[in-house]
Amino acid sequence: MNKTHAAITAIGGFVPEYRLTNAVLETMIDTSDEWITTRTGIKERRILKGEGEGLSVMALEAIEDLKKRSGKSLEDVDAVIVSTVTPDMPVASTAAFICNKIGAKNAFGFDLQAACSGWLFALSTGASYIESGRFKKVLVIGGDKMSSIIDYTDRTTCVIFGDGCGVALLEPNNEGYGVQDFILRSDGVGRDFLKIKAGGSMYPPTAETVANREHFVYQEGQQVFKFAVTNMAEVAANIMDRNSLTADNVDWLVPHQANKRIIDATAKRMGVSDEKVMLNIQRYGNTTNGTLPLCLWDYESQLKKGDTLVFAAFGGGFTWGAIYLTWAYDPK
Ligand code: UT7
Repeated sequence: MNKTHAAITAIGGFVPEYRLTNAVLETMIDTSDEWITTRTGIKERRILKGEGEGLSVMALEAIEDLKKRSGKSLEDVDAVIVSTVTPDMPVASTAAFICNKIGAKNAFGFDLQAACSGWLFALSTGASYIESGRFKKVLVIGGDKMSSIIDYTDRTTCVIFGDGCGVALLEPNNEGYGVQDFILRSDGVGRDFLKIKAGGSMYPPTAETVANREHFVYQEGQQVFKFAVTNMAEVAANIMDRNSLTADNVDWLVPHQANKRIIDATAKRMGVSDEKVMLNIQRYGNTTNGTLPLCLWDYESQLKKGDTLVFAAFGGGFTWGAIYLTWAYDPK
């Protein structure tokens, strides 16, 4: 019998309407369009406005979009995995709320946190459920409302991040398409270089932590950059090596969108040319868990059955990884 692979069978996405452009940022902090563009490749990012609107608002929009694009029903979904660093609330999980909203009465769901690599951790988890044969439909959602944890007086972080959410449906495939291999890594050496210090069990919220702005993202950009550029390129090259992939038979690099310079270095190391690299950082910035599914969302119409995709990501923790996947359907 053929091995069951976990294939992506539908994609959906959502980005909020409001565009925070570099020109607007120039009026808020000491920065310039020229600095942001040359150092990061970002031109604008989307921001979710509106009182009481959290990640689930974007996730439910992305799910509606998936249903519209694919015609798939989701009431019979077995599991919902939400990778995020900005769940609606610390407790209860955003995934549980989504199970209820989509009418998936027999589903279980949970949130998963692996910073910017989270969607790869979620995709590999969902794929393992499908490959086990126990589950037939898994929703893998990745998204963040980064504007809820960004300090808009800190020019070193606020120019980078944006809000957005993407979703993929995983189903069994017996033709051999789907997730082929993954490499995931975590190393706590990075804990102090990219973090939100307070709000967890070490430093619960107090008036002082709020006054000290310790509930916002803190990043030592250069340190993170050094690790990211090395490890993202390395892990992408490793997954190619161990699956005997050459640059010629990789159709798409799907890289985490943190910095155009990190993406370029990864593509270079893989030997993959620019036209094979999915890129939307210029329009959305770094949406953390949203970057990879939003790349698929933007490029879905160009993907063909059998295309070879290599995903690569790096994030806080540190966490990093790569996934090798073959695409399972032609554009509609
Ligand atoms: O997605 C999760 C993982 N995160 C990443 O992968 C992010 C990795 N890091 C980066 O992408 C880059 O380090 C940044 C984009 C965050 C920063 O770029 P950089 O080239 O590493 O800049 P830098 O931190 O070395 O700063 C260079 C200069 C500094 O000024 P001085 O000390 O040379 O006078 C900064 O103060 O640029 C200054 N600077 C800015 N200037 C204008 C920092 N932020 C800004 C800004 N506008 N927004």
